[in-house]
Amino acid sequence: MTDVTDLPGGSELRTDVPEPRTPGRYRLAMVCLGNICRSPMADVVLQARVAEAGLDDRVEVVSAGTADYHVGKPMDRRAAATLTAAGYDATRHRAQQLGPDWVGACDLVLVMDDSNHADVGEHERVRLFRSYDPVGTGGEVPDPYYGGDDGFQEVLAMVERTGERLVELVAERVRS
Ligand code: 4NP
Repeated sequence: MTDVTDLPGGSELRTDVPEPRTPGRYRLAMVCLGNICRSPMADVVLQARVAEAGLDDRVEVVSAGTADYHVGKPMDRRAAATLTAAGYDATRHRAQQLGPDWVGACDLVLVMDDSNHADVGEHERVRLFRSYDPVGTGGEVPDPYYGGDDGFQEVLAMVERTGERLVELVAERVRS
């Protein structure tokens, strides 16, 4: 069966990231609702790619939720188990809420869905995470919180393929 999230999202794949505010450095923020499922998964995967690219001294990855429901808590255990099984370290995350100064302090804020986008607001540096996903470009990262384990696998696949492209694009910005 075709998964709806793999159908074309109908928007164009973004091929660049905004210029850094400070040349040679980059701060990326991942944002979802609770900061215990989607944005922490994206955060951990992006950090791993950044480290592999040897850019961890120049590129910072952070994440937050628009809501304060889970502030201070570790990741959802299903999100953590999915990451751990794929070889990532899910132990260090603690949920935090997006603050009013985040957009002004980050180079690129990636929101997981349209509702997160509406909550954060329109800004050149605020973009849908999957506007960088070559598969189903422009779609939402579906919220896996109320679903089964398959949802977490699907989120992992999205953040892995999108994260790889994002780190390539950010690497061009910090190296040029
Ligand atoms: P997330 O998932 O936004 O991907 O972290 C959710 C986590 C918690 C809730 C909703 C979504 N909640 O309603 O508590």
